[in-house]
Amino acid sequence: MKHMKNILSALLALVMILTLAACAGGGQTSGTVAETESRIENMTAPSGKTGSDTLSGTDETAAPSESKTLVVYFSRTGEQYTVGVIDKGNTAIVAEMIAEKTGADLWEVLPVDDHYPMTYSALTDVAKKEQNDNARPAYKGTVPDLSEYDTVFIGAPVWWGDWPMILYTFFEQNRDALGGKTLIPFSTHEGSGLSGFDRKLGSAVPGATVGKGLAVRGNDAQNRQDSVRESVNIWLKELGF
Ligand SMILES: Cc1cc2nc3c(=O)[nH]c(=O)nc-3n(C[C@H](O)[C@H](O)[C@H](O)COP(=O)(O)O)c2cc1C
Repeated sequence: MKHMKNILSALLALVMILTLAACAGGGQTSGTVAETESRIENMTAPSGKTGSDTLSGTDETAAPSESKTLVVYFSRTGEQYTVGVIDKGNTAIVAEMIAEKTGADLWEVLPVDDHYPMTYSALTDVAKKEQNDNARPAYKGTVPDLSEYDTVFIGAPVWWGDWPMILYTFFEQNRDALGGKTLIPFSTHEGSGLSGFDRKLGSAVPGATVGKGLAVRGNDAQNRQDSVRESVNIWLKELGF
């Protein structure tokens, strides 16, 4: 009888060990799945796409294109319309998205003598005066060797319905080097859209082919970056990037 009891106790112990092992194993498996799912959900995905779309889409992100692309942009920090005081300009945000997606080099047009005020109202006065005077404010630094690039994206905020005058300085001083290239304009704005940037660019650099431009609301560039990135990517795809 004592012998039977020992066998039963041993069997019971074995059953308990097996049950515990099964529980522990099951918990671990479901934990791993949950962690993976949460990593996918935590990926920043453009709206309308799932996290796994983004993961599989990363292979397409780099641009293995043979032609070299440059993004030239002008943008202001400080107080801007509807977005308050910003550390990174609206156009700069879009420029970086383009460069990231296409693998392009980035070059910022910076004024030599940065006389642009950091408050919105004062900035609009200075910009209006430059436009009325048909001014050509100087920019600083050396423009990258444009002969290395086939496509140049050029972006700026719309100022009084037009390119900021410093962009006309850039177009005029690089007219020959930009001729024969594909130039693609983009703007950020608060209602004026592309504001004729494409037509005006074509007049300023007559030898260039002007591609389809993109207009982005400055407020969206600052505050709705997932949806802006999606629009930028769709536009780039249409352009063949
Ligand atoms: C001097 C000035 C003039 C502007 N004129 C216009 C305009 O004519 N139409 C428009 O839609 N937005 C206009 N805006 C708004 C800017 O285009 C918009 O805030 C832009 O996103 C700013 O870009 P940034 O942060 O890259 O400088 C103007 C802003 C400034 C400072």
